[in-house]
Amino acid sequence: MDIRIRSFKEYEQKYAQSVDEPDSFWNEVAQQYIWRKPYEKVCQWEFETPDVQWFLGGKMNITENCLDRHLAARGNKTALVWEPNDPRVGAVKLTYRELHEKVCQLANALKSQGVVKGDRVIIYMPMVPELTIAVLACARIGAVHSVVFAGFSANALSDRINDASATMVITADGLNRGAKQVPLKRVVDEALESCTTIQKVIVFDCVGWKPELHAGRDIWWHDAIDGMALSCEAEEMDSEDMLFILYTSGSTGKPKGVVHTCGGYMVYAGYSFQNVFQIEENDVYWCTADIGWITGHTYIVYGPLLSGTTTVMFEGVPTFPDAGRFWQVCDKHGVTVFYTAPTAIRALMACGLDHVLPYNLHSLRLLGTVGEPINDEAWRWYYLHIGKEKCPIVDTWWQTETGGIMISGLGGLSPMNPAHAGFPLPGIQPVLLDQEGKEITSNEVEGYLCIKYPWPSMIRTTYGDHERCKHTYFSHYHNHYFTGDGAKRDENGLYRIIGRVDDVINVSGHRFGTAEIEEAINANKYVVESAVVGYPHDVKGQGIYAFVICDSMPEDAAIRRDEIIETVVEQIGRIAKPEKIQFVTGLPKTRSGKIMRRILRKVAEGDASNLGDISTLLDPDVVADIVKGAQ
Ligand code: WTA
Repeated sequence: MDIRIRSFKEYEQKYAQSVDEPDSFWNEVAQQYIWRKPYEKVCQWEFETPDVQWFLGGKMNITENCLDRHLAARGNKTALVWEPNDPRVGAVKLTYRELHEKVCQLANALKSQGVVKGDRVIIYMPMVPELTIAVLACARIGAVHSVVFAGFSANALSDRINDASATMVITADGLNRGAKQVPLKRVVDEALESCTTIQKVIVFDCVGWKPELHAGRDIWWHDAIDGMALSCEAEEMDSEDMLFILYTSGSTGKPKGVVHTCGGYMVYAGYSFQNVFQIEENDVYWCTADIGWITGHTYIVYGPLLSGTTTVMFEGVPTFPDAGRFWQVCDKHGVTVFYTAPTAIRALMACGLDHVLPYNLHSLRLLGTVGEPINDEAWRWYYLHIGKEKCPIVDTWWQTETGGIMISGLGGLSPMNPAHAGFPLPGIQPVLLDQEGKEITSNEVEGYLCIKYPWPSMIRTTYGDHERCKHTYFSHYHNHYFTGDGAKRDENGLYRIIGRVDDVINVSGHRFGTAEIEEAINANKYVVESAVVGYPHDVKGQGIYAFVICDSMPEDAAIRRDEIIETVVEQIGRIAKPEKIQFVTGLPKTRSGKIMRRILRKVAEGDASNLGDISTLLDPDVVADIVKGAQ
């Protein structure tokens, strides 16, 4: 059954149906998939506990829907195009049949290494086809995958392994990133020094480094799959069995493991992909995200494969060997739909049109953005110079926790307004709440963005800590899922996302909790205390500004800054590096000891003229010093 909406009128009809009769709406959507055993009930929910279940009693396997289902009609169609980091190395193409075989082969290897249904497998890999194969092989046998972005440090990796009590790591010897290579296996070895649950490590030979293998624990990928059958019966999963855990930052402490389950995630991934991108059979679709983030999970792997689409996977970075790389790849593979992050657009915009003009970009028909608000200038540049004024842009708002795109235009059908995500997808019921938690029903308003009805791919729990899920997302406002974002609704009802209202900083579309970065900074032996805020950054959207108290004022501030950055890199990874570090003798605290971040934010934004009332501070004098020393 076709689930694609083909006109704005149809969108309005479907939206109304999804609100009036949600069960019948979702039942229609879910019918396009293979269910080994049909579900008995579409949805059962309450947001108090919370307890949300979709497609109850249904049995299925997502890989059967991603792969087996397409073999008859699309067996020879390209499923995956892999474009390597180095343009001189040839691209790799896998048909649906080849991908199916490779997934089955690795699935058999995982089983023979002792992995069983329900086991957690950490995947810490470069952006190579084997990463996609590893994800799908886990899903094939019912193992729970948890992909950890390969830029995270050994510390961050071991935290995630321990939180998930994982039994296996799948990794590679190293990875290629622009002109650099990174030794992944070495990071894994270091991480495993503080992990006790890992029994096996599978190592893919990516860069030819031949690292030392620990006898009894480590095995080469090629040895593990050697002699394994190319078919593997898919494990029968319950709709509500866990499919994956993905760690993401929140406003407090350590990252939390967002849990997604099999049935609902599958239904929403395919549905949202086909509608937002208005997918046609011959599309060549490219999402430039990394599979270490939710965007890669849903819109490189699952959404496209569920839809029988050709999906492009890119190993490299936008600026290597030069800032024309994205556009060269678009021309080379005839990309029709291109989906990227505003931060990448801004970075490439800054490199100038000389890197765009050599490419014709004729194949493109639709553009997308994700991860952070896009500013007007970047939107216009993208529309004019990449889309040549003929490609609609979908600005897609969603989160790790939502599993799929929630608010976005449907490619070309919906009204488009720069920097506005637009309308919710049918099935999604966003609301704006005021301070008191009352719904604001009119337009031209601003409030806290919440969702008042469940959707199939919503977060089920935070792994190992359901209470945390409850208080993070369901306790702020009774009977609502709280997104952590503030938003406006314009006179036409289009949503515009403003950004986080909690202590989360969005750097280049990557989420970090201020507490998480402060903890990392505090791990430096000279640091007594620190406070971190975000500030507007031209390319990254937000940059990290750290106010740091050391045991004594450093003699050489530059050296101390480097040491602190090194500590953050060790604790989390290079992506969490503070842009600015200011040494201070005190922090603005209330009498109850709470840091007044509002003041620090103003200073970081370079706007110290109006700091508001500071008389309630424990020591108002520290503020003058902070303002004086601001960078
Ligand atoms: C932000 C990424 C504005 C938002 C898919 C959200 C956006 C957080 C947009 C989730 C957008 C994502 N416009 N802001 N189109 N998309 N965000 O979990 O603050 O990595 O809460 O998921 O990114 O980030 P996450």
